[in-house]
Amino acid sequence: MQVLVLGGHGKVARYLTPLLLDRAWNVTSVVRNPKHEDDIMSLGKGRKGKVNVLVSSLDQVKSASDARKILDTVSPDYVVWSAGAGGKGGPASTIAVDQEAAKHFLSASFASAYVSKFLMVSYLGCRRNKPIWMSDDDWAALMHVKTEALPTYVKAKLEADEYMTALVAKRKTDTSAHPLQAINLRPGFLIDAPATRKVQLGRTAGRGSVTREDVAIVADQLLVSADAEGWIDLINGDVPVEVAVQKVGKEKNDAVEGEDVKGMVRRFFP
Ligand SMILES: NC(=O)c1ccc[n+]([C@@H]2O[C@H](COP(=O)([O-])OP(=O)(O)OC[C@H]3O[C@@H](n4cnc5c(N)ncnc54)[C@H](OP(=O)(O)O)[C@@H]3O)[C@@H](O)[C@H]2O)c1
Repeated sequence: MQVLVLGGHGKVARYLTPLLLDRAWNVTSVVRNPKHEDDIMSLGKGRKGKVNVLVSSLDQVKSASDARKILDTVSPDYVVWSAGAGGKGGPASTIAVDQEAAKHFLSASFASAYVSKFLMVSYLGCRRNKPIWMSDDDWAALMHVKTEALPTYVKAKLEADEYMTALVAKRKTDTSAHPLQAINLRPGFLIDAPATRKVQLGRTAGRGSVTREDVAIVADQLLVSADAEGWIDLINGDVPVEVAVQKVGKEKNDAVEGEDVKGMVRRFFP
C-alpha cells in the first residue's frame, strides 16, 4: 500500500506517518521545506514500511493537472490531506492551500485510476446548517468561528469539503468509475496533549477539542476501515477509538445530513 500524505510535516501528519508505516504501508510525505526532510525520514526508523519525501509547495498547485503531476510520481493507493496554511500568509494563502490546492488534489485523485481512498482532514465547524443533533449553544459557538474568528479558513475548508461531497455524489451516478472511499474527518479544536484513545466520532457535539495524536490514530483506523465514508466529526469523548471507528463504518451516519448535497452537485457540476 502506498500512501501520499500532503502536509507531511504537520503535527497530525507526523503522528500519522509512523502508524501507517507500522502497517507495512509505504508513505510519501509531501513537505514544502527541504529542511524538514530529515525529520520525516527519522519517522521511518525501525518501521515496517518505507518513508520518502517529496518537496513541493502546495500553493504552487494551481490546477488539477499540477496535482496530477505530483500524484503520478507516486501513484498512491491512498491520499491523505492534512495540510493547512494555518493563517500564515494571510487570506490569500489560506485560499490557495486549504481551498484551491485541496480541490485540485481531489479532482486529480478522483480522476486517477489508482487512488482508492481519499482522507481529508477538515474541521467540525465547516457546515452551513445546524444539524439536528447539535445544541443551539454549540451551533452559536461554531458560527462565531465561521463568521468572526476564522472566516476565511472556514470558508476555504467548507468549499473543499463541499467539492469533495459533490464529487462523491457525482461518482455514484457514473457506473464506469472505480470505487473510491472518500472520508472527510472533521476534528474540533486541536490540542497538543497525549492521546486518550477515547472519542466521540461521527455526529458529535459542536464544541470540543481533540488531541492531534488522537486525530492521527482515528485517521489511521479509518484508512483501514472498508466501510467508513462521508463526513465524520471528531472530538475527544469516552468511546474507545476502535469501537467508534467500527460503529461509524457500520451505521453510516454521515454527518453531512442537514446539508444540501444536491445543491453542492448543482453548484460544482452545473
Ligand atoms: N488547529 C485546529 O484547531 C484545527 C481544527 C480542525 C482541523 N484542523 C486542520 O487539521 C489539519 C492538520 O492540522 P495540524 O495541526 O497538523 O496542522 P499543521 O501542524 O499546521 O500542519 C499543516 C501543514 O501544512 C503545511 N503547509 C502549509 N502551507 C503549505 C504549502 N503552501 N505547501 C506545502 N505544505 C504546506 C505546513 O508546512 P510547514 O510545516 O512547512 O509549515 C504544515 O506542515 C489541517 O488541515 C488543519 O486545517 C485544524
